[in-house]
Amino acid sequence: MAKRKRTFEPIPLADIVHRLGRLQVPHWCGEAWRLYDLAGGTDSSLPVIELGCWAGYSAAVMAAAGRAVVTIDPHDPELYNPTQLAIADGRDMAQVARDAWEVLGIADRITLIGATGADAAKQAPSKTSLLYLDANHHEADVRADLELYAGRVVAQGCCALHDWGDRGDEAIPWGVREAWRDYALTYDGCWSDYVSVYGHLADIVRLD
Ligand SMILES: C[S@@+](CC[C@H](N)C(=O)[O-])C[C@H]1O[C@@H](n2cnc3c(N)ncnc32)[C@H](O)[C@@H]1O
Repeated sequence: MAKRKRTFEPIPLADIVHRLGRLQVPHWCGEAWRLYDLAGGTDSSLPVIELGCWAGYSAAVMAAAGRAVVTIDPHDPELYNPTQLAIADGRDMAQVARDAWEVLGIADRITLIGATGADAAKQAPSKTSLLYLDANHHEADVRADLELYAGRVVAQGCCALHDWGDRGDEAIPWGVREAWRDYALTYDGCWSDYVSVYGHLADIVRLD
């Protein structure tokens, strides 16, 4: 079997997780391994598209798998949930992410577009083999993001969605799962019926 061309050399995930100081977040570590595998197992000649960068952790994980990553986030405190607002504590989270990537030696793998998914749609890559949605989790927003981006996933590529399930602690409940079900019904046949769920991370393979 021909060896897949990788744009960048993979870096061991344990090293990245340790240096990001995330070893003490057990549920995140498990999901990070799953995301690393998805990034390493899909066509590396295309960039990953991520919606929702925050401090750059998940972008770092996918970049460590040897991928070019385009991550989209306006980093607008108005869009942060109360927990994120408290953690940000006035810091510029885009800069926090960039500094982390620099320290990890992966800054050249990651492009940050400082805009909402909707505003970045024209600028973002037209094709991807891995779409990772982790922006606003309310049903209508996820549905809109899917409408704009899921069609860019190539056959045998994958759509991964974070915060699948009912863990919402905000005034408006999350609707990631509901948004996907609604979207998949509309695009019946393009996507596998099988949703693989690991922790709060779900992924679905594109069939054609
Ligand atoms: C849960 S955090 C992302 C965490 C990140 N994926 C990680 O695991 O390291 C959600 C992020 O989505 C961003 N966000 C909110 N609405 C957005 C939108 N419409 N488009 C893109 N990003 C958005 C927020 O600014 C926030 O940084």
